This record gives sequence, structure tokens and C-alpha cells, in this order.
Amino acid sequence: MAVDAVIIGLGYVGLPLAEEATKAGMTVLGFDINQGVVDALNAGESHVDDLSNDDISDMIKGGFRATTDESEIAQAKVAVICVPTPLSEDGGPDLRAVEGAVDAVARNLQPGMLVILESTTYPGTTDEVVKPKLEAGGLVAGKDFHLAFSPERIDPGNAKFGAKNTPKVVGGYTPKTLRLRLPSTATSSTPWCAPRAPRRPKRPSCWRTPTATSTLPWSTK
Ligand SMILES: NC(=O)c1ccc[n+]([C@@H]2O[C@H](COP(=O)([O-])OP(=O)(O)OC[C@H]3O[C@@H](n4cnc5c(N)ncnc54)[C@H](O)[C@@H]3O)[C@@H](O)[C@H]2O)c1
Repeated sequence: MAVDAVIIGLGYVGLPLAEEATKAGMTVLGFDINQGVVDALNAGESHVDDLSNDDISDMIKGGFRATTDESEIAQAKVAVICVPTPLSEDGGPDLRAVEGAVDAVARNLQPGMLVILESTTYPGTTDEVVKPKLEAGGLVAGKDFHLAFSPERIDPGNAKFGAKNTPKVVGGYTPKTLRLRLPSTATSSTPWCAPRAPRRPKRPSCWRTPTATSTLPWSTK
């Protein structure tokens, strides 16, 4: 069965995002390598402070389910990567979980899929680490599939700002990716540019100033 989105990494970032996507009417699959997390979620038990067991039950009623079977990623129109990036010994982000998640997506990448990296990392990761792995099977970013980076800004425990109303910056490869990511009802004008733009010294012309908080950072509509 096709799903609108697969959220990869069901922790403090991925689970609230999965909840908002489910509330927005999307069919959402959660993928995690931790069998205990997956089993607990499918049993209606939350392991993050911002979501209660009732919230998980509501998600399940809305069609959400979790899996450790990476082949199910192939069913999704959108894949959002929310895996950990702890500090490595040299002070930079440890990208092993990101690389593992991207490899899982790459093995299941389908033409037309939108892949979004949300994990915290350094500028250039999408270009230099994610894109080559995804293209290894022959599909080309911006042509055969869509690729974006939207660093997560959630503040767990914050009663005022959560996954629904925290503005997000999204960097993508093509205008087509912009159209894919904008929900049809969105009031947001989240800044949009090529993934490597933050490295540029001048404000790129394609940046716009946010005028409202964003809803979901992507949509399949
Ligand atoms: N938690 C925050 O406050 C916060 C805020 C902003 C940004 N971030 C960033 O968001 C990212 C995710 O953080 P988090 O707090 O949600 O982490 P977390 O530890 O709460 O959850 C991560 C989940 O990813 C799973 N995972 C690990 N490797 C995987 C893989 N290869 N494939 C599938 N699942 C995998 C883990 O089992 C875990 O359930 C990190 O880059 C973090 O820096 C976190």
C-alpha cells in the first residue's frame, strides 16, 4: 500500500513530525532501527515527553504505524530523515546514523520520491554525503527524484512552539521541489534556496522573508 510519507527516526524530532503529518490527513509510516521503539509505538506507547500515549493512539487511528522493515520505505512519496547526529570526537556531527538512513532510502528509492534531510548537520552534507549515496543506483537528483534539506528546530518541552508552528528553512534542488514541499493551504513563505546557499557570502535572490509560521515542511499535494 502506498503511503504519503515515511519518517525515518522516531525520536524527539521524528515522532512529533509524524503526528503533525497524520493530523494533516497524510498516511504516515514510521521507520526506526530500534525494534523496541517500533513495538512500543505500535502498541500505543510513547517514549518522548512531548507526546502522550493518547497521542500515539490517535496517530494509529489516523493510519500511522511503525516498522523496522526498510523495504517499506519504497511505498512512500516522501522520505524524511530525522536520525541522531551526536558530536563526534573531532567536534563535528557524527554522521553514521544519517549515512545508515540514507543507505536505507537509497536501496528503496523510487522515481519521483522526495527525500528531505532534517537531522542537524553542517552545510554541504546534502550535496556531499546524501546526494551521492542516493544517486548510486542510477537515479539523478532534481531529475528522477527530489532532494531537500530542512534542519530541525524543534524545542522539546516548549509549550508555545512545536512541530506545527516552528518556522523552518528549506533548501532544495529545483523549483519542482519547491512546488512539492509547499502545502496547498500553507500561509508560510519559508525561505527557499539551493542546499548550499548558506555558504554564499551574499543573500541569494531566491530567499524570501518568512511572513507566517510554517505548517508541514512538505506535502505531496
Ligand atoms: N531533540 C531536539 O531537541 C532536537 C532539536 C533540533 C534538532 N535536532 C536534531 O534532530 C535529529 C534527531 O534528533 P532526535 O532528538 O529526534 O533524536 P532521538 O535520539 O530522540 O531519536 C532518533 C531516532 O532515530 C533512530 N535511528 C538511529 N539511527 C537510525 C537509522 N539509521 N535508521 C532509522 N532510525 C534510526 C533511533 O533509534 C531513534 O529512535 C538530530 O540531528 C538532532 O541533532 C534535535
